[in-house]
Amino acid sequence: MTSTEPITPNSDGSTAGDPAAPKTSAMSPALDAADSRGSNILEVRNVSKSFHDPVTVPVLKKVSLEVKRGEFVSITGKSGCGKSTLLYILSTMDTDYEGEVMIDAEPTRGLSGERLARIRNEKIGFVFQFHYLLPEFSVLKNVMLPGLKLGKHSAEEVEHRAMKRLRDLDMHEHAFKGANQLSGGQKQRVAIARSLINDPLIIMGDEPTGNLDSRNSGIVFDIFKSISAHHEQSLLVVTHDNDFASRTDRIIEMDDGKVIG
Ligand SMILES: Nc1ncnc2c1ncn2[C@@H]1O[C@H](COP(=O)(O)OP(=O)(O)OP(=O)(O)O)[C@@H](O)[C@H]1O
Ligand SMILES: [Mg+2]
Repeated sequence: MTSTEPITPNSDGSTAGDPAAPKTSAMSPALDAADSRGSNILEVRNVSKSFHDPVTVPVLKKVSLEVKRGEFVSITGKSGCGKSTLLYILSTMDTDYEGEVMIDAEPTRGLSGERLARIRNEKIGFVFQFHYLLPEFSVLKNVMLPGLKLGKHSAEEVEHRAMKRLRDLDMHEHAFKGANQLSGGQKQRVAIARSLINDPLIIMGDEPTGNLDSRNSGIVFDIFKSISAHHEQSLLVVTHDNDFASRTDRIIEMDDGKVIG
């Protein structure tokens, strides 16, 4: 796979929390895996990657970073500096790299494809510049898909959880519309609801507001902020929007495949 491909959210999207749910083990077991705010949900040690196409070009050069529980972190940097390539590795979709990626204290190197898919589904939520909703399904079904795929709850329970997330994002009135009958900002809110369905520990975004106007970008920012503030889920978001980045807890700046600040 290449880093320029979109990280298709497991053909469904992904995971993360019930923005209003109490943190009980019954509601969010993934959250309980990390003991407290302050623990690292994501740890990246000396990750390097080169493309060989046809000559070898190093694209990531010993990138190290960490994201703590409940932290809202942005990644910025010039076009081509390696942000999407890095996110693709952190999402466990790309396993062709050197270094170490630990998710919720579990080293991911060498794990089977099946185990990685499970980690992805259970612990990571994804939101992208383009929402990747499936147009042939309703809004509700789109949000449910990663939950059905994880198979932890009955279809009825997944539907209930999906409706709750749509309500939290003020999209419940659109639940039975086709996914292609929404505005761009509405689609992105549905994509966020979908990313939250499995109560992930961390939500990763690759330019999630890149396709939105400033009003809708502000709405998405506020939703992310509230997810990290109230639910102790972490966010790692690549953005070109300096205003968006400046309002996050911490900015990781990249240049030419390295973290420079
Ligand atoms: N499959 C590939 N084969 C060869 N080179 C690639 C491949 N995918 C990406 N690259 C190169 O790797 C570098 C980093 O690409 P990447 O998509 O990670 O950049 P980015 O920081 O996300 O940029 P943007 O802000 O434009 O999205 C670029 O120089 C790109 O041309
Ligand atoms: Mg990119």
